[in-house]
Amino acid sequence: MLNIDLTGKVALVTGSTRGIGRAIAGTLAECGAKVAVVGRDRAKAEAVAEEIGEARGFACDVTVPADVTMLVQEVEEKFGSLDILVNNAGITRDNLMLRMKDDDWDAVMDANLRSAFVAIRAASRGMMKRRWGRIVNITSVVGLMWNKGQANYAASKAGLVGLTKSVAKELASRNILCNAVAPGFIETDMTAAMTAEARAAMSGEIPLERLGAPVDVAHAVAFLSSDLAAYVTGQVLVVDGGLAM
Ligand code: NAI
Repeated sequence: MLNIDLTGKVALVTGSTRGIGRAIAGTLAECGAKVAVVGRDRAKAEAVAEEIGEARGFACDVTVPADVTMLVQEVEEKFGSLDILVNNAGITRDNLMLRMKDDDWDAVMDANLRSAFVAIRAASRGMMKRRWGRIVNITSVVGLMWNKGQANYAASKAGLVGLTKSVAKELASRNILCNAVAPGFIETDMTAAMTAEARAAMSGEIPLERLGAPVDVAHAVAFLSSDLAAYVTGQVLVVDGGLAM
């Protein structure tokens, strides 16, 4: 049990049916928050919600702006509030830049960057009225260090940093904090596709000599969602075992 108290707060975590998002949803619930678990598949989201405690499952494809806006309204109606928004859903469509299709660019931008903007715009209205809010965007060390074959992903994740800082400045006077967490290489479906050699080579580059666990990222999000982070806004907390140093 983490010594972070989120009792009475309502949290929405996009893409929380597996991987890092699921760990974030579970950790926030452990800290006492009521959690909206969100996935494209409602049944999966409901199954995860049942496992993690005081939570409900919702279906939303975050690439559809109207659906994201409706999701926020639905969560506010069902739980009576929305205090913590975690923009976690994300995809990769890797290719060398010269071979990258317009579709690969648009799909990654829509899922990783526009989705966060739309969710923040929708969720911030209620947060402003209540004069309390926490927004955490999951970016990536790739958005800070760049990577061959990931021009679209790196641009979307760097864009999230710009979004985070702009929103932090716009909403600070209403006691709404907006920060980002930048994971390094974390053991999830997204990194499972790596070969054993690539994995070993990557671990060799990481000062802490291991890939991270989803819960390593979740702990950083829990901190930024809590009153312990009351004087922290517009920051990027890097959770990467020292990789990007
Ligand atoms: P994952 O692929 O295991 O999970 C991604 C989640 O987002 C899934 O639940 C998926 O269904 C959801 N999602 C994707 N597109 C969606 C859409 N259009 N609508 C609704 N949900 C959608 O990936 P992982 O590793 O858990 O990644 C979570 C976040 O962390 C992503 O934003 C990723 O870019 C970021 N990240 C991951 C790293 C890693 O090493 N695994 C490193 C740095 C950042």
